[in-house]
Amino acid sequence: MLRLYFFISLMCLVRSDTDETCSSFTRLGFHSAVVGTGLRVKLLLYTKRDPTCAQLINSTALGNLNVTKKTTFIIHGFRPTGSPPVWIGDLVEGLLFVEDMNVIVVDWNRGATTILYNHAADKCRKVATVLKKFIDHMLAKGASLDDIYMIGVSLGAHISGFVGEAYNGKLGRITGLDPAGPLFNGKPPEDRLDPSDAQFVDVIHSDIDALGYKEPLGNIDFYPNGGLDQPGCPKTIFGGMQYFKCDHQKSVFLYLSSLRENCTVTAYPCDSYRDYRNGKCVSCGIPQKESCPLLGYYADNWKDYLTEKDPPMTKAYFDTAEEKPFCIYHYFVDIITWNKNIRRGSITIRLKDKAGTTTESKIDHEPATFQKYHQVSLLARFSQDLDKVAAISLVFSTGSVVGPRYKLRILRMKLRSLTHPERPQLCRYDLVLMENIETVFQPILCPKLQL
Ligand SMILES: *[C@@H]1O[C@H](CO)[C@@H](O)[C@H](O)[C@H]1NC(C)=O
Ligand SMILES: *[C@@H]1O[C@H](CO)[C@@H](O)[C@H](O)[C@H]1NC(C)=O
Ligand SMILES: *[C@@H]1O[C@H](CO)[C@@H](O)[C@H](O)[C@H]1NC(C)=O
Repeated sequence: MLRLYFFISLMCLVRSDTDETCSSFTRLGFHSAVVGTGLRVKLLLYTKRDPTCAQLINSTALGNLNVTKKTTFIIHGFRPTGSPPVWIGDLVEGLLFVEDMNVIVVDWNRGATTILYNHAADKCRKVATVLKKFIDHMLAKGASLDDIYMIGVSLGAHISGFVGEAYNGKLGRITGLDPAGPLFNGKPPEDRLDPSDAQFVDVIHSDIDALGYKEPLGNIDFYPNGGLDQPGCPKTIFGGMQYFKCDHQKSVFLYLSSLRENCTVTAYPCDSYRDYRNGKCVSCGIPQKESCPLLGYYADNWKDYLTEKDPPMTKAYFDTAEEKPFCIYHYFVDIITWNKNIRRGSITIRLKDKAGTTTESKIDHEPATFQKYHQVSLLARFSQDLDKVAAISLVFSTGSVVGPRYKLRILRMKLRSLTHPERPQLCRYDLVLMENIETVFQPILCPKLQL
């Protein structure tokens, strides 16, 4: 109790010390969206001192902004209902949690709020002009372009690109979170975000078939779950408003998880999602780095490698779990069969540890082809990482509901972790899988010397 009292008094002290009230993001109603809004850009500054209380700043009054520190701008997109973005507070606090910096929320809700997307899109250049003027002022006060980072969501990604272009690509970094596609798809680089807009540009594409931009726009372009439908999002219009924005917003939630969660989302540089699912892209092709690039805040650890490539653009694919934390653990399931005839089908694998925790992976994106004495390496993706696997179950399916049931005669199966290659590989010999029937067994350690 006493401690709580002390804590509250301390909070009051901090607040009275700043001697001002907090500013907040403009909240508009649906009425404003219907009649449309004129552009007004508000800059809300947050610092580590108080990550939940914003100070209103402008190009003549920089407030508590410390120009010697890194400054991150957060720029939202189209607001069809006028409400503040749900993720904005989490993003501000997450950034301040990982680093002591200035975080500026660029609130252009007046301008972005309209039911007509093209009216909001038309204002992007003007928002960029306001930001350019503000940054010029920061530079005059001693800030460095190297320390400026912009996180742009949807239309905000292209706004960041326009600001970056105005500085000939000398801005430190731009992160585009599902950059807007409609009205921007197919446009030349000067009319959208592109890799030359900053020293490092990283992009997450989570809705390439609707609101997002399909083609690569950065030094690295991450395509979670192939960039199309995100797990956990409604697949039909009966999902209501979520049906429209869930995939698009997933890019923001994935980025957020890189600030908060201690499981890291690893991405695999690859030419296509199909190749990734077929396990062709697990070596990362990055000789300088042992690990594959991570999604989100720490993606710039790979900056030197990614910007030196010619052209300096890399696509990276990975799958995510439905919920936070989104990370997936990759394993290879190597199978050698001895059926006389070729068998095609999918494998579902379930792992269980001593405590009874189970995790499952369906490898069914396309049928695997099992040929006598040939090893097939299937990429399995689990949402949990079981340290000590006590039991494994396998189901083989050809997907046909009529016709004969097939058997898959396995000479050897081997399970090896990609996330933790140092872990012992697990094996099992001589198994017969009856189609659609679960076969459970205890694995043994594979012999050190493989056949
Ligand atoms: C900038 O902010 C200060 C303090 O809030 C205010 O007095 C001033 O009028 C603002 N300037 C502009 C150009 O908006
Ligand atoms: C601004 O930031 C620098 C570097 O973090 C620090 O040394 C300095 O004390 C800060 N200035 C103020 C006025 O807080
Ligand atoms: C972080 O990892 C530890 C153990 O490695 C776990 O107990 C904890 O729940 C994790 N925290 C989050 C936020 O995932």
